[in-house]
Amino acid sequence: MSQIPHVPVPQNLHDPLPMTLPRLAEKKRLAEPIVMVTAYDYPSAQVAQAAGVDVVLVGDSGAMTVLGYPSTVPVSTDEMLMLASAVRRGLQTPLLVGDLPFGSYEASDEQAIATAQRFIKEAGCDAVKLERGGTSVQRALAIVDSGIPVMGHVGLTPQTATALGGYRAQGRTASRALQVAHDAIALQEAGCFSIVFEAIPAAVSEVLMERLEVPVIGIGAGPATDGQVLVFHDLLGIYDGHAPRFAKRFGELKALMVAGVAQYADEVRRGAFPAPEHTYSIDDDELAAFRADLEATT
Ligand code: KIV
Repeated sequence: MSQIPHVPVPQNLHDPLPMTLPRLAEKKRLAEPIVMVTAYDYPSAQVAQAAGVDVVLVGDSGAMTVLGYPSTVPVSTDEMLMLASAVRRGLQTPLLVGDLPFGSYEASDEQAIATAQRFIKEAGCDAVKLERGGTSVQRALAIVDSGIPVMGHVGLTPQTATALGGYRAQGRTASRALQVAHDAIALQEAGCFSIVFEAIPAAVSEVLMERLEVPVIGIGAGPATDGQVLVFHDLLGIYDGHAPRFAKRFGELKALMVAGVAQYADEVRRGAFPAPEHTYSIDDDELAAFRADLEATT
């Protein structure tokens, strides 16, 4: 497979320590870039584990990448919990963050705490993520107060993309950048252990980094953040819906997968598969006895 890139994997993979909130904060302090990726099932979790990432997010982007919805809005808590549980089974050391889906936390602090508790109790997540500032700041505070770590998410927040004017970069005017700043600082003050910046100008991130003490993970937010996150299916070229400009592809797996299945189909149709090495044998005597018994009994 010549497409497998020759990239060094971390040396400590055989004895990695589990990622914890203090270790994440320490990484920021030491200016060690934090690597986060999404995963939605057992195999993608195993890939993230083997690649030595720091944080895995069961993003509600899974609504689109694995469940085929047109946006992140329709996915239910039960669907997210099924994805998160599968990821938990494939993951040992990275911090596991579950994304609270649209409509599962906005109505009240009680609703937010109850949903967050399901991600911890039923799916085994270490933390949850919610989107936006505004009323989400109070929800983040309530969840943190209930003992569950919360990651914030500002800038482009796909759950409310319609209200933001579509899937477009945020904070591109002074007043919109100030809004992003206020949201991020409020989430930090509410006790979020980390914040995602999505689709904001690199220069705005750079200014904001001076004000934030918690680790900031960027996606389309430039290089100044403490870490980066990408969607698994975007970075590996599995999903071919709309891809934002920040979604660099590090592989073209969909093409490889289609080629593999097409080759299988071709070999079945030509009678080339299965070959003798793919089949089981039976002694000639046993086969003859089987034939005779079948003849006698049917
Ligand atoms: O759902 C998701 O994948 C996300 C990341 C893009 C941060 O929220």
